[in-house]
Amino acid sequence: MFEQITLGDWISLIVRWVHAISSVAWIGGSAFFAFVIRPVEKTHPDAIRPILQPLSSVYRELVDISVIAIIITGLILMFDRLTGNDASPAWFIVLGLKLALAVWMFYLVWRFRQSDFNPTTQPTGLGGKLSWLIGYNAMVFLGVIIFLLASVLRTLFENSIST
Ligand code: HEM
Repeated sequence: MFEQITLGDWISLIVRWVHAISSVAWIGGSAFFAFVIRPVEKTHPDAIRPILQPLSSVYRELVDISVIAIIITGLILMFDRLTGNDASPAWFIVLGLKLALAVWMFYLVWRFRQSDFNPTTQPTGLGGKLSWLIGYNAMVFLGVIIFLLASVLRTLFENSIST
């Protein structure tokens, strides 16, 4: 039943799996903060505020591990595709777009760390509100778009190997 799957196939399957679950952990974690913790904090500030600090520091670790895993596995997947001859020009364009958005997300994380950005503190003033909106929601938004682009890449690739 599994004899058609070579060792190389297993390795690339595992790399793809790690890439996918790390992406889910990162984007899912951000969405949980943005759409669950934040609204509950607004309605029940006394219940949530005391645990915000430990929550966000554990979340930080999750982001660190996920981002490292995503970069390593993403590069392996990319070189795996590039060494075959099945990557079409459309595939390259979509990959370029996906990479640009991924770099933007990595930059957002880096900038939050530089400015000691704390996703759990209440933004103050218009500037604060804007940067919160741009920073936090942009992360979830970019992640969702990247997932879509990853599916497009897959379809483009499968189409080019079947023709
Ligand atoms: C260094 C940055 C990254 C590189 C080089 C990279 C590269 C790739 C490549 C080459 C593929 C395979 C595409 C195909 O099927 O032809 C892929 C799939 C995928 N990528 Fe990335 N990626 C990166 C970052 C990200 C990020 C930040 C996310 C999510 C937030 C993400 C989510 C995904 C998902 C969900 C898949 C589909 C996995 C599957 O088919 O099971 N990637 N990536």
